[in-house]
Amino acid sequence: MKLSRGTALCVAGLAMFITAVVYGQAPPAGQARPAGQAPPAAQAAAPRPQLAEEAFKNIRVLKGIPVKEFMNTMGFFAASLAFNCTDCHGGASASDWANYATDTPLKNRARQMITMVKAINDANFGGRQFVTCYTCHRGSQKPKIVPSLAVQYGEPPPDDPDEVEALPTARVTATPDQLFDKYIQAVGGAQALGRLTSFTATGTYEGFDSDFAKVPVNIYAKAPNMRSLVAHMASGDVSYTYDGREGWQTGPRDLTPVSLIPLIGADLAGARADAQLSFPGQIKQMATNWRADFPPVTIDDKPVLVVQGTMPDRTIVKLYFDRASGLLVRQTRYAPTVIGTVPTHATYSDYREVPGTGVKIPFTSQMTWVDGQYTVNLTSVTPNAAIEAARFAKPAAR
Ligand code: HEC
Ligand code: HEC
Repeated sequence: MKLSRGTALCVAGLAMFITAVVYGQAPPAGQARPAGQAPPAAQAAAPRPQLAEEAFKNIRVLKGIPVKEFMNTMGFFAASLAFNCTDCHGGASASDWANYATDTPLKNRARQMITMVKAINDANFGGRQFVTCYTCHRGSQKPKIVPSLAVQYGEPPPDDPDEVEALPTARVTATPDQLFDKYIQAVGGAQALGRLTSFTATGTYEGFDSDFAKVPVNIYAKAPNMRSLVAHMASGDVSYTYDGREGWQTGPRDLTPVSLIPLIGADLAGARADAQLSFPGQIKQMATNWRADFPPVTIDDKPVLVVQGTMPDRTIVKLYFDRASGLLVRQTRYAPTVIGTVPTHATYSDYREVPGTGVKIPFTSQMTWVDGQYTVNLTSVTPNAAIEAARFAKPAAR
């Protein structure tokens, strides 16, 4: 299914910027955590994240899950039915987050469906998430009942590269280490990479939350794994920060129902991956259990080679390398929610040299997740710049 601005996700000015949620296991589709089962604690020391029923006014079914996971389930609904947030929440929700608490017939129907899906999985699949909203809805409001002859006899739709699964019988043309080495070579080589220890960058950001207007963006990155992205919206800054250990996303009140959301579980692992990939010399260390036994995959008609690894909190990540150039063109990762597993992917293009370093980085990158998307185009990058520690510190709630 293609998520397009008109059919899915959020309304102008109320765009979500919720990366994939959660903690606990990040299994391949179909093997997620049983619905309703409490996620395992992310880290013993981590403070308990705010729960949906504490942050919101009218939660009757999706209780006991952190705000971040709750927002991801909303994205799951939007993705499964190809709905805008306002399709379920009513036109008035576009102007004020408080109106999301108002019940609508579709919202109530969705609540019934949550209970139905849990009952189906409990009764037939030992509580595992084999059936989700997407199983039936497949991107439509009304699931189909009569099979289509056009589909039966037509060309199958093109494969979605995010969905490729490891295939133990696949012929491995390059091992993970060979792919990493080729990539490191393609972006400048280990020596040049080792000399780049930080950078700051400026450019433009456009996404649902900027209503697809180009707004200024700053990126701060410090090796080995600190990163902050700050997009300057008309109503205030949206930011994603990872300090090497913890991560947060923030936004002004008109753009997010909760202004400071701590990242946990698979989201935190994803923020760490984004920070580490800013300095590709350490790509091998970002995950363990690397494997490259994938069937052939193409992205934009170009052959790519896929490796998969396991990041903290058992978060699965796939990396897609252009077979010809060796460059990383995509990163896909998965996060479980009580409803089902959600994908997030980042695409990388327009690799250019950071002036005077011999290192190439992607000047264009795009993040896509079930309830949001943004594209960053860099215009200038300053290598080895001094960056104040405060750039990576926990942002204040607004
Ligand atoms: C298929 C219908 C559906 C879609 C689409 C949907 N939601 Fe929801 N939303 C619900 C339901 C149902 C609840 C109440 C959940 C409960 O009672 O446990 C809810 C509750 C909420 C709440 C809590 C409001 C409060 O104060 O009680 C927020 C915030 C919210 N949704 C945001 C969103 C956003 C943002 C999107 C788009 C990414 C979205 N929703 C898409 C069905 C939907
Ligand atoms: C087992 C199949 C199945 C699953 C799984 C399923 N649905 Fe449905 N859903 C249906 C059917 C069938 C309808 C009724 C369509 C109609 O009225 O033609 C429906 C209707 C709905 C409607 C009302 C649409 C309308 O226009 O009246 C909403 C909203 C909805 N589902 C949300 C969800 C959500 C959210 C989930 C996941 C928690 C989900 N569904 C899972 C089969 C399913």
